[in-house]
Amino acid sequence: MDSISIIRTPIESELEAFKELYDSSLSSSNTLLDSVVAHIRQRSGKMMRPILVLLVARLYGVVSPATLHAAVSLELLHNASLVHDDVVDESTERRGQLSVNAIFNNKVAVLTGDYLLATALVEVGMTRNYGIIDIVSKLGQDLAEGELLQLSNVSNPEYSEDIYFDVIRKKTAVLFAACMKAGALSVGAGDEKAEYARLFGEYIGLCFQIKDDIFDYYES
Ligand code: IPE
Ligand code: MG
Repeated sequence: MDSISIIRTPIESELEAFKELYDSSLSSSNTLLDSVVAHIRQRSGKMMRPILVLLVARLYGVVSPATLHAAVSLELLHNASLVHDDVVDESTERRGQLSVNAIFNNKVAVLTGDYLLATALVEVGMTRNYGIIDIVSKLGQDLAEGELLQLSNVSNPEYSEDIYFDVIRKKTAVLFAACMKAGALSVGAGDEKAEYARLFGEYIGLCFQIKDDIFDYYES
């Protein structure tokens, strides 16, 4: 068994419930949107963020509807950021297939990203949990700020380790941190436990991005 399957084992049935909710959150009556969403769904990715939400919830309690709505919201926000990121980076590939901007165009990609983001907000509202609503709203700001910080440092000759960590904390690690904290709050964990979870997520996110950046320098 590969390592991601081992990690998923304790939350197999919860992950199925997540997928069902994720798919139903994206059903629309617009044909163009439907075909873009169908394209995005063809390759759903590793689902690391919902897996983290569910694992923490499971660790601290019993996965609840709030847990599932939080996981859907965070995965939607992640996907919105990927669709927009490919426009910003002018990338033509994502998850081994053509990116939304490449298959359709930039306009469609920007608008679809907006739709995914808006749907993320609808889903977080359905958690009816103000702590989780706070996390996701702040997260949207941090992700955008991280990307802008990266952009404004592209040709900075004084680029430093401090700036690098600031960028990756905001553009990547905050999302993992948000997943872990939201998972904890969704099952009523107290402040101390939620903070441990948040910090654990932040460290996983920093490691993840450092590894992802190293891959950019090597073939495999
Ligand atoms: C990609 O994240 C974006 C980065 C933060 C580097 P993932 O590699 O987790 O994306 P998917 O969802 O599995 O495709
Ligand atoms: Mg990028």
